[in-house]
Amino acid sequence: MNPVENIVVIGGCGHVGLPFGMVLADHGMQVVLLDVDGAKVASINQGLMPFREAGAEALLPKLIGKSLRATTDPECLRAAEVVISVIGTPVDEHLNPTVSALYRSLDDLIEYVPDGSLLVLRSTLYPGVTRLIKDRIEERKREIHVAFCPERIAEGKAIEELTSLPQIISAFEPVALAKAREVFSRIAPSLIELDPLEAELAKLFTNSWRYLNFAASNQFYMLAESYGLDFYRIYNAVTQEYPRMRSFARAGFAAGPCLLKDTLQLSAFSSNNFFLGHAAMLVNEGLPNFIVTQLRSEGLAKSTVAILGMAFKGDSDDNRSSLSYKLKKLLQVEARSVLCTDPFITDARFVSLERAIEQADVIILGAPHSAYRGLQFPKGKRVVDVWGFWR
Ligand SMILES: NC(=O)c1ccc[n+]([C@@H]2O[C@H](COP(=O)([O-])OP(=O)(O)OC[C@H]3O[C@@H](n4cnc5c(N)ncnc54)[C@H](O)[C@@H]3O)[C@@H](O)[C@H]2O)c1
Repeated sequence: MNPVENIVVIGGCGHVGLPFGMVLADHGMQVVLLDVDGAKVASINQGLMPFREAGAEALLPKLIGKSLRATTDPECLRAAEVVISVIGTPVDEHLNPTVSALYRSLDDLIEYVPDGSLLVLRSTLYPGVTRLIKDRIEERKREIHVAFCPERIAEGKAIEELTSLPQIISAFEPVALAKAREVFSRIAPSLIELDPLEAELAKLFTNSWRYLNFAASNQFYMLAESYGLDFYRIYNAVTQEYPRMRSFARAGFAAGPCLLKDTLQLSAFSSNNFFLGHAAMLVNEGLPNFIVTQLRSEGLAKSTVAILGMAFKGDSDDNRSSLSYKLKKLLQVEARSVLCTDPFITDARFVSLERAIEQADVIILGAPHSAYRGLQFPKGKRVVDVWGFWR
């Protein structure tokens, strides 16, 4: 098989598509990032990252205009040997997965995709959707192969992890699997082959596992704190030189665009019998409420509260599904006033870190950004640090 040269990434300017496209372009392939967001396309073509991603700021200018470009024009698909779609199946307001955005994008774009090419579905998908996409393409009498090769990186670490973690690949036909193998073996250290349904579940198990893991820690945190105990004294004791507790995560907001969504996908797939997943959602989503309940008895109604860090996790500028915003909403009902600050998110309603610290009676760590590491707070401030970040 000739090496694949031309790749188009649909949704290529987002958190999954852009680092992935960059890594492919850095490994000898010609990559076009196709996206509906003209502002991101323009920024990327100028060599400017639209979001924070470790190592990407330096790499992008080296690739752009050479092996990498971005566009809003689907005509680029006509020359593609491999098309990678990162459009996913989000959950709707009823917590059910929806395929409409994925179907719409493929229905719009499939006429540009040449027969004989490979369509790789890269986003997390509701189990069975890879098969449905294959059937949908066949109904149109098109000969486009379909593979599902899920992204499993931690957002913000994609450039490093894409080339250091094993890649799961799956397809229905040997020819599709062979082409997927050809592309991914050029970037990943090893490949793991599964059937598509197995691979869809593998991705959901990965994210749900992480979400359950955080829920266990958050439950233990709330349990200890509700008895007036210091959770991290216990945490440090049980993890010290004790290998079986190595997977015990620290407590903290388990948020962002993936973990809860994917747990809910698994829940829908199990006909709402994924009890652990639902329990994890109640625990993780309940952590902001627990903080507010704790503070209520300490005179919250008369307090100005500052939330430091509005991103969904530390050192990120991504505020999608961030629990800091849930906390903010809860506090706005009960506190005298709420101040928000974040070094990476531009919002006219936010205040500077200095002002937040100076004016607040209560300081809550929302996202453990490294920039907050050495902060010292004036005496008399109540500090809530679920992560144990400032210890
Ligand atoms: N962020 C992660 O770490 C991560 C990890 C694994 C899987 N995923 C999954 O990958 C998917 C994408 O996530 P993301 O974080 O990259 O989202 P994102 O919002 O950062 O990026 C999506 C991109 O797709 C573009 N887009 C949307 N519809 C389009 C269309 N019809 N045609 C072309 N471009 C289109 C958007 O403009 C955006 O640039 C989600 O389903 C997510 O669950 C995300």
